[in-house]
Amino acid sequence: MLESSDIEKINRAAEILAKSKYAVVFTGAGISAESGIPTFRGEDGLWKKYDPEEVASIQGFRRNPRAFWEFSMELMKKTSAEPNPAHYAIAELEKMGIVKAVITQNIDMLHQRAGSRKVYELHGSIEKLKCLDCREEYTWEDFTDLIQNSEIPRCRVCGSWYVKPKVVLFGEPLPSTVLYQAIEESRRADAFLVVGSSLVVYPAAELPYIAKSNGAKMIIVNDECTIADSIFDVVIHGKAGVILPKIVEKVKEIRGSMS
Ligand code: APR
Ligand code: ZN
Repeated sequence: MLESSDIEKINRAAEILAKSKYAVVFTGAGISAESGIPTFRGEDGLWKKYDPEEVASIQGFRRNPRAFWEFSMELMKKTSAEPNPAHYAIAELEKMGIVKAVITQNIDMLHQRAGSRKVYELHGSIEKLKCLDCREEYTWEDFTDLIQNSEIPRCRVCGSWYVKPKVVLFGEPLPSTVLYQAIEESRRADAFLVVGSSLVVYPAAELPYIAKSNGAKMIIVNDECTIADSIFDVVIHGKAGVILPKIVEKVKEIRGSMS
């Protein structure tokens, strides 16, 4: 049940978005939590169970690709993830002409599956795989049987064991064009909505500060406090799948009265 203070904050967030000319959304693992995908930090975050250095860094991958694959397979088996109401709410704000871009740290492609069209994937996505040695690209279909038998993919061109999904591991650079475009979008935003991120991993976590310093009105919807809460005009602690649809409902009401 929402407290009256939350309702007041939802109304303020809706007001900012309804009156914005260029709203940009920035998301992290928290927006996919209600789709069944575990987050990395917080109560039962993945980094409490796994060592990111071992299973999610490029050095760890080169040292032992099997550890990376065991972690990734467990993660992917866990969820036949579907977009949740938070993803759909953001796609609706884009359809309404309010959200102009989504910048995500997530690799699950749920924003696109919910209908968002302009999505910047700062950390890549699980859509394709690539051989680190000869750059050959693959799809998951190329390795379905292998993965079902818990074997690790091997490059069919050069025989390398270093075939990985095109996601950014710790120690790897972010895709420069995507990062540059995301910085431009953050600079241009007059409203910046953060959903489900602890805002501790750079350079992604720099983007809200860039938006703020360029005059954007700042909103965050997150399940718990973040170290950046103080830069936001509206801070709503709650579940994205509950809060976002309520914000959209209120935006429609305001937009209706504005026309
Ligand atoms: N609704 C809203 N927020 C939620 C929900 C929810 N249902 N569930 C969890 N959260 C919040 C958590 O409280 C946490 O603050 O989402 C945040 C998720 O933080 P992280 O797990 O740190 O995820 P993220 O910020 O995306 O991490 C950034 O770190 O490990 C790397 O590459 C990985 O992209 C990831 C990056
Ligand atoms: Zn190869």
